[in-house]
Amino acid sequence: MAQEVRGVIAPGKDEPVRVETIVVPDPGPGEAVVQVQACGVCHTDLHYKQGGISDDFPFLLGHEAAGVVESVGEGVTDVAPGDFVILNWRAVCGQCRACLRGRPWYCFNTHNAEQKMTLTDGTELSPALGIGAFAEKTLVASGQCTKVDPSVSAQVAGLLGCGVMAGIGAAINTGNVGRGDSVAVIGCGGVGDAAIAGSRLAGAAKIIAVDIDDRKLETAKRLGATHTVNSKANDAVEAIRELTGGFGADVVIEAVGRPETYKQAFYARDLAGTVVLVGVPTPEMKLELPLLDVFGRGGSLKSSWYGDCLPSRDFPMLIDLHLQGRLPLDEFVTETIRLDEVEKAFERMHHGDVLRSVVVL
Ligand code: APR
Ligand code: ZN
Ligand code: ZN
Repeated sequence: MAQEVRGVIAPGKDEPVRVETIVVPDPGPGEAVVQVQACGVCHTDLHYKQGGISDDFPFLLGHEAAGVVESVGEGVTDVAPGDFVILNWRAVCGQCRACLRGRPWYCFNTHNAEQKMTLTDGTELSPALGIGAFAEKTLVASGQCTKVDPSVSAQVAGLLGCGVMAGIGAAINTGNVGRGDSVAVIGCGGVGDAAIAGSRLAGAAKIIAVDIDDRKLETAKRLGATHTVNSKANDAVEAIRELTGGFGADVVIEAVGRPETYKQAFYARDLAGTVVLVGVPTPEMKLELPLLDVFGRGGSLKSSWYGDCLPSRDFPMLIDLHLQGRLPLDEFVTETIRLDEVEKAFERMHHGDVLRSVVVL
C-alpha cells in the first residue's frame, strides 16, 4: 500500500524549498523502498532548486543518502528488507558496450525507479539524480542500493553517494594515484578534500592543497594535505613546482570547475603527469591551450565522472577502510540538521561555511 511521508520539495525556479507530504508507492518489479536515515546537502540540490539542471519541477531533493531497505518489488535479489545501503544515482545494466568493457559508469542503459512518487494531489515528483532522499522514505531501482557494513553511521555512509565519492574516486580511480606520488588538488571544498583523503589513502607522499580561502586550507590539512598554497596570494603553478623540486606534481586534480584553475592544473603537472578534471564546468566555458604544451609535457588529461566509481566495488571497500580508521569520513560532516532546515543549509553552503550539512531522519 502506498505510504505518506514527509519530503523536501523544490516547488519552482528559485522558490524556497519546503517540507510537504509525499506519496511513496509500493515497490514494483526491480524497485525498492528505502527508509532514509541520513542525506547530505550537495551543490547539485541547490542547482535543481535554481532551475539549472532541468525545468521538471517540482523536485524531490536530496541524493547523498544511506538508509535501510524497507521493502522490495518482484524479482529483486540484490538487496532485501533490513539491508543497510548507500544509494547511487542510477542502476547500470551490466550488458551494454560500456558495461561489458568494464566502464559501467558510462553505461548507456542506466535506470531509476519506473513508478513516480507524487504529492498528495497526484502531482508527479522528479527525484534529484533519480533518488529524492530528503524524505523519510524514497522509491529507487534496487540497483541503486549498495549494501555496506551496518556498523557505520548513516550520516557518514551517505556521503559516499555523491561528492565525497567523486573526490576520492578522482584520486584513486581516475588519477590512479600511487604510493610515493606527489599530488596537487586545486579547490578544497568537499570534493577537493575528498580527493586529498583519497590521495593519502593511496599512499601519496606529497599532497599539495590549493585554495583561495585559508579556512579551506586548514580543513585540507586535517584530511591529509602535507602542504598548502593560497592561490590568491601566490602563483599556484609556481608554488606547486617549487614544492616538487621544480618539476610539477605527478597527478593534479582540479576540483573547482573553471577554465583558469584547469589551466593551472595543466601547467602544474610533471612531465608525463596526469591532470584530472572533477570540477564540473558550465556549457559556455572554454579553454585555449598551446597544442605544443599538450604535446611537449606528455602525460594525460582526464575527466572524472562520479569518481569513475563502481558503487558495488567502491562503497563497501571505502566504508571498511573508514571503520578501520584509515579514511576520516566524519571530518566531512560539519553539522547535522532536520528536514525543515535544508533552505538554511543552502545559505551556509553558499557562503562556504560548511563542508557538508547532513539531514538526519
Ligand atoms: N582557485 C582555487 N580554489 C578556488 C577557486 C580558485 N580560483 N575558486 C574557488 N575555489 C575553491 C573554493 O574556495 C572552495 O573551497 O574551490 C572550492 C569549491 O568547493 P565547493 O564550492 O564546496 O564545491 P565542491 O562541492 O567541493 O565541488 C567542487 O566539483 O563536483 C564538482 O560540481 C562540483 O564543480 C563543483 C566542484
Ligand atoms: Zn550498461
Ligand atoms: Zn551531489
